[in-house]
Amino acid sequence: MLELSIVYGLNENDTRKVREMRGGRFLADVINGKEWPPSGSYACIQNQPLQGETRCHNIPVIGAQIIMGGSVMYLWFYRMHNAVARELQSMNPCWDDEKLFYEAREIVIAFVNQIWYYELYPAVLGYDYLLKNKAIYSTWGHINDYNPKLEPAVSIEYVVGTRWFHTVQEGRSKLYDRDGKLINELDSVELTLRTGILPLNRTIQGLTQGYFRQATAAEDYIIDPDMGERVLGSLQTASDVYSSDIMKGRDDGLPAYNKYRQICNLPVAKDFEDLRQWMPDDKVDAMIQHYETVDDIDIVAGFTSEYPMKEAAFGPTLACMMTDQIKHWRQADRFWYENQQHPGAFTEEQLYQIRHMTMSRVICDHGDEVDTIQPWSFFLAGPG
Ligand code: HEM
Repeated sequence: MLELSIVYGLNENDTRKVREMRGGRFLADVINGKEWPPSGSYACIQNQPLQGETRCHNIPVIGAQIIMGGSVMYLWFYRMHNAVARELQSMNPCWDDEKLFYEAREIVIAFVNQIWYYELYPAVLGYDYLLKNKAIYSTWGHINDYNPKLEPAVSIEYVVGTRWFHTVQEGRSKLYDRDGKLINELDSVELTLRTGILPLNRTIQGLTQGYFRQATAAEDYIIDPDMGERVLGSLQTASDVYSSDIMKGRDDGLPAYNKYRQICNLPVAKDFEDLRQWMPDDKVDAMIQHYETVDDIDIVAGFTSEYPMKEAAFGPTLACMMTDQIKHWRQADRFWYENQQHPGAFTEEQLYQIRHMTMSRVICDHGDEVDTIQPWSFFLAGPG
């Protein structure tokens, strides 16, 4: 997601297939004044063609239209690319398609990283925690901490850790009108692999409003029953995503929860009773029932049970696992948007402008019919 491969693909061949090859833009159908990628893929197996749901995007990465939230977010950044390419073309009429495409790509990726590092990660990990661990810095200028000795790779801990988001996935996706009035609710799992529903009956407009008006499920380690029972809606009636998440930790051979606490310099539990300091009693009781010793607890079961840290959604063990990678990404990437250590680096002025990008700005500019939104859309609108 950080390098936006969901929009730009994993290799040049796939990306070329969806490029217009003019003006640095992606191919686009225009529906009600908004751009959509060309349709024609057969991946949207939950589309209901008899109800007119035929749109299924021919895009480089199929994963970009599995989960509905991902499908809509894909559209925002895909549209942003074309908007940036147009802007660049009007400022640089001599640039050819290739130059426009890759310059636009670099800018859009910088925008996304700005949002992830300074909005999304602080929302789940806490701004001060990230600062303290040097995953982000408090500056409008460059950060030059590229380290050529680091391998630009992703830790398996980060991938498994990201599954925490399953615990805050709401089972019902709410649709609102522009004034914030609830107009409909749909089962989230019924929207998986179903891009065809988006342009019909103002579904994309309603869902888009919901993405900044609906709260996540409570951060209480309880998974929504739909996620635990019917992950792919009517197509897969018995599947438990949380069990898969725990299983994934085992399949990947991750050390146990207590071992990670040790690696993270956190107090280690000598017995089950020690756990009561950092997770609720009912969870500890469940651990006692399911594990023989405290050292057997699976990492996923452990990190989804911990109380969150101050001003964060993640507990300390997950925070440690994730922050290590978040910091690593920046330091291992010579072309990271914040660093100045390569010839194509953004100038001070360009970086200053990039630092103004927010998720709300993206939704406002590239979402469907959004004219009012809170400034920080990872948080609900409120008096504060
Ligand atoms: C309706 C919503 C969602 C459904 C039905 C869903 C379902 C699934 C399923 C079935 C898997 C594979 C499980 C396995 O067999 O190992 C999976 C993996 C995963 N999901 Fe979700 N998910 C949803 C939302 C999300 C969200 C909102 C996020 C994060 C923001 C997320 C992040 C992940 C990650 C990181 C993986 C692991 C990928 C890997 O191991 O390579 N999911 N999800």
